[in-house]
Amino acid sequence: MYSNDISTNLTDLMDYPPTDEPMRQMYFIEALKKIVTVKEEALGRPLSFSVVTFGCQMNAHDSEKLEGILEKAGLTAGDEDSSDIVIYNTCTVRENANMKLFGHLGQLKAKKKANPEMLIGLCGCMMQQPEIIDTIKEKFRFVDIVFGTFNIFMLAELLCRKYSGEKQVIEVLKNPVGNPENSLPEKRKYKFKSGVNIMYGCNNFCTFCIVPYVRGRERSRTPEDILAEVKRLADDGVSEVMLLGQNVNSYGVNFMEESEIIKNNPDYSFPELLADVCKIDGIRRVRFMTSHPKDLSDRLIEVIRDNPKVCRQIHLPVQSGSTRLLAKMNRRYSKEHYLGLIDKIRKEIPEVSISTDIMVGFPGETEEDFLETMDLVDKVGFDQVFTFEYSIRTGTPAAKMEQVPADVVKERFDRLLKLVNTKARAKVGRFKDEVVEVLVEDIDSHDETMVSGRMNNNTTVHFKGCKELIGQYVMVKLTTEKGFYYIGEMVG
Ligand code: SAH
Ligand code: SF4
Ligand code: F3S
Repeated sequence: MYSNDISTNLTDLMDYPPTDEPMRQMYFIEALKKIVTVKEEALGRPLSFSVVTFGCQMNAHDSEKLEGILEKAGLTAGDEDSSDIVIYNTCTVRENANMKLFGHLGQLKAKKKANPEMLIGLCGCMMQQPEIIDTIKEKFRFVDIVFGTFNIFMLAELLCRKYSGEKQVIEVLKNPVGNPENSLPEKRKYKFKSGVNIMYGCNNFCTFCIVPYVRGRERSRTPEDILAEVKRLADDGVSEVMLLGQNVNSYGVNFMEESEIIKNNPDYSFPELLADVCKIDGIRRVRFMTSHPKDLSDRLIEVIRDNPKVCRQIHLPVQSGSTRLLAKMNRRYSKEHYLGLIDKIRKEIPEVSISTDIMVGFPGETEEDFLETMDLVDKVGFDQVFTFEYSIRTGTPAAKMEQVPADVVKERFDRLLKLVNTKARAKVGRFKDEVVEVLVEDIDSHDETMVSGRMNNNTTVHFKGCKELIGQYVMVKLTTEKGFYYIGEMVG
């Protein structure tokens, strides 16, 4: 039996942890569980946690692992304002992501005063930057634990250290270690769909981008690991998976471990993996992101075309329509190559929806460069465009290039947005009056007599329905087109 003195209990818990992962992680999850029990008894209430995600799908998927660890250690999900452990999983792809975090931290000090049990943790991409760690040490001393993208698996251990009396626990690894994430528990946001990491990091070094510096070099998981995970998910009720990587088309260039499948077929790469995932019983929809235009192969287009389980949705970030700027960005394709790729994809998979990311105001962008981007948007007719103003990332090559004045960027950004909205609206509405399959995801956030779901091509549809439909595939007639989504009626 453990007494109420946590520090005494921890002395024996922390003394001899196993050295090999994943035994070590399991050990600390158990240790944390004991601490949680003691604390809950002392407080006479459950201990709660909240993990707040700031970044992309990968970041969100990491959050599910953090939640899995906390739940396994016996904590209960709560909200950001009042939980006993609040973890911010940060993003640093643009400066406003950093600002957002500092905004939240400013408000937290007061909340921590109101709940003395509250522990604040920071992790994710922003924490991989030494100058951010210096700022936290200097200005945010009330932050309790800090860790990076390579050691999310250590959460239980770091919390144990905090509970055993360390003031501010900071443990940020510079490089990845082994493959400890394989055995992490996971708490899925949705029972019926899940992200699956197929690779980590990025080797492309686009000159504007911080990701390779904060997520490390590209590392692919073996097909064995990935397929086993998808099978496990399917057995647990998942029917839709999203295969995740910064550039899924270079899957398999650098494997992390030995693989029999690769030994027998050295050419095995993303198209083969995608086809194998489609073969798993219970999986009905397969999505993937992100594709880099320089690496999207004809073979991949064929696999998508021939496998109805692969969703008719391709996210293909173009960044700019100017071949001159694309070279300065180190994207390694031209405007013509991109347009050719779009033609090829549409020829083979006519119903596909295509989305993209576009950046305005990359250093040295002239009016002519920008007009090339407008022209590309006009020619392609994307279903969805994510538009960004270029943001300086310290340490990247573009940070040292000559910058475009802010007012010029703003004016171009507004012009682009106008065009994007008119074009996408015309595009998304093309399925009006059709009957399509929808996977129901949630009760509609604005009207509880309605549900929301997604078409195969990722477009959202709202229609009358009840919570029993969540996780089911139903046929819906798209009666009203609302620009970027539909209102429909369930049929049959
Ligand atoms: N791996 C993906 C992109 C991940 S980051 C790819 O290669 O497409 C998501 C998007 O953020 C990028 O596509 C880019 O449009 C945007 N982005 C990245 N760095 C940026 C920066 N410094 N300023 C503004 N937008 C940026
Ligand atoms: Fe960043 Fe380029 Fe890698 Fe995408 S491919 S994560 S934009 S460096
Ligand atoms: Fe942001 Fe990191 Fe993703 S910087 S976009 S959370 S990989």
